[in-house]
Amino acid sequence: MTDTFDQFKPAPDANWWRQAAVYQIYPRSFADADGDGLGDIRGITAKIPYLAALGIDAVWLSPFYPSPLADGGYDVSDYRDVDPRLGTLEDFDEMVAALHAAQIKLIADIVPNHSSDQHEWFQQALAAGKGSPERERYIFRDGLGADGGKPPSDWVSHFGGSAWTRITEPSGEPGQWYLHLFAKEQPDWNWENPEIREDFLKTLRFWSDRGVDGFRVDVAHALAKDMSEPLRSKPSVADELTPVDGKDPLFDRDEVHDIYAEWRKVFNEYDPPRTAVAEAWVPASRRMAYASPEGLGQAFNFDLLRADWDVGQFRSIITNNLSQAEESGASSTWVFSNHDVVRHPSRYGLPAGLDYGPWLMADGSEPEVDQMTGLRRARAATLLMLALPGSAYLYQGEELGLFEVPDLPAATLQDPIWHRTGHQRKGRDGCRVPLPWTQEGESFGFGTNGAHLPQPAWFGGLSVEAQDGIAGSTLEFYRHALKLRGQLQSYEDLEWIGGTGGSTLHFSRPGQWQSITNFGREPLALPPGKVLISSSKLAAGQLPPDTTAWLAGSVQEG
Ligand code: NOJ
Repeated sequence: MTDTFDQFKPAPDANWWRQAAVYQIYPRSFADADGDGLGDIRGITAKIPYLAALGIDAVWLSPFYPSPLADGGYDVSDYRDVDPRLGTLEDFDEMVAALHAAQIKLIADIVPNHSSDQHEWFQQALAAGKGSPERERYIFRDGLGADGGKPPSDWVSHFGGSAWTRITEPSGEPGQWYLHLFAKEQPDWNWENPEIREDFLKTLRFWSDRGVDGFRVDVAHALAKDMSEPLRSKPSVADELTPVDGKDPLFDRDEVHDIYAEWRKVFNEYDPPRTAVAEAWVPASRRMAYASPEGLGQAFNFDLLRADWDVGQFRSIITNNLSQAEESGASSTWVFSNHDVVRHPSRYGLPAGLDYGPWLMADGSEPEVDQMTGLRRARAATLLMLALPGSAYLYQGEELGLFEVPDLPAATLQDPIWHRTGHQRKGRDGCRVPLPWTQEGESFGFGTNGAHLPQPAWFGGLSVEAQDGIAGSTLEFYRHALKLRGQLQSYEDLEWIGGTGGSTLHFSRPGQWQSITNFGREPLALPPGKVLISSSKLAAGQLPPDTTAWLAGSVQEG
């Protein structure tokens, strides 16, 4: 088959990222080599054969930097080192070399909106006092009211509560306030200060020189802020409230792209140029600017992740995103799960439109997940995603069909959302539980000495060991699908077969192959063509509900 399809393949080049299958590793929960209950770099290196057999093109590594872990590592205290609990720079270099030897690229997470409050520069800012150059690296303001006791504005943190925290001055007096769009342990950098810009360029070069192939840019839309006085009111952080004119005080301001134009110059110093993907929670119409070749080059599209299992929603999201990507010069991105959301087999086993907050607070019991439907739809969604032009971002554990763990004991929860909302919202720990590698034994093979979040008993049945080599298992399904994708993926074109209004999504891709998904309740006759793979078992040549199949053969033949 490879011969047949190869003629339709563009030559491999610096644009490897355009249609890569990228696997996200949340390092503290992947594999623990040193037995401290926390995943680490050597744990990842030891699992490279597993990653290679999975058939991915790149790993996106969530933050691995020194961090007090106020927000799972997204509170960085040193941008140019490895957290000693996760290893050393030498371990990192070994991992990069081993990934590259296995033909796997590495995308590092970079967190430019905020640091940790334990970062040396923030500690210096606290000590140096008002008006000092040290304070200019962050966003300090006097409070309002006679005694400066009120926050400088009504801005709120993504994790709940005010986005301002008051400090105690070195004199011992109550003092200025600093801005943090996330937890109070995550002070926002002042991107108007050239020193910050320079320092991040240094960080980009530091990791690029060590062989990192690209960067995932955290909260890419928040770096530029309008801090002119008086500060404008913005009592909500909901992204829907971000206007589309680039003039919001906090998010998606036009000037943010000047920063990425500078980054692009650094990326292009390398051969091949380093890539980047923006995490930018902006309206679809504003996404293109982040994804332009003069900017970061690619931007996450979370539209499918937020959609219901619904044929109409899926079709319009796919159509819109493909045309936007084409306009920007980037390729599209697709994602169903990551470290911030309820895992997609659970979402699809729950009623559409459910608010996951109360569901998590009820330990996932109200309503209960219909696991069979959830996993079935999740597999169909994944196979559909893997057939689309563009990059597919997968999250560790989804290849095992892991469900969310909604009933973690309250005392074990780590997410700042839980703590900052006075225990009203649980947050994201349920998708960050360490992976099960074996059916039994200490932390199901994650490590030799426990796991930093407790794993439920049912993890063993979904472990790598339980699924390896088992026909029909989710792991073998992912392996097969990724392998086929590697052979079939070619030019970034897609042609719909059939109009809107039905219950199927059916399209063809260059190289004469098709993908068809049944969102309806009845089985459907499959079009002619050799079935290459299906997400669930086919029954007598029919495509059952909640199933995707790929077929070889052109539309004309069918
Ligand atoms: C987005 C990251 O994905 C999330 O995990 C983190 O909490 C926030 N940015 C703040 O860095």
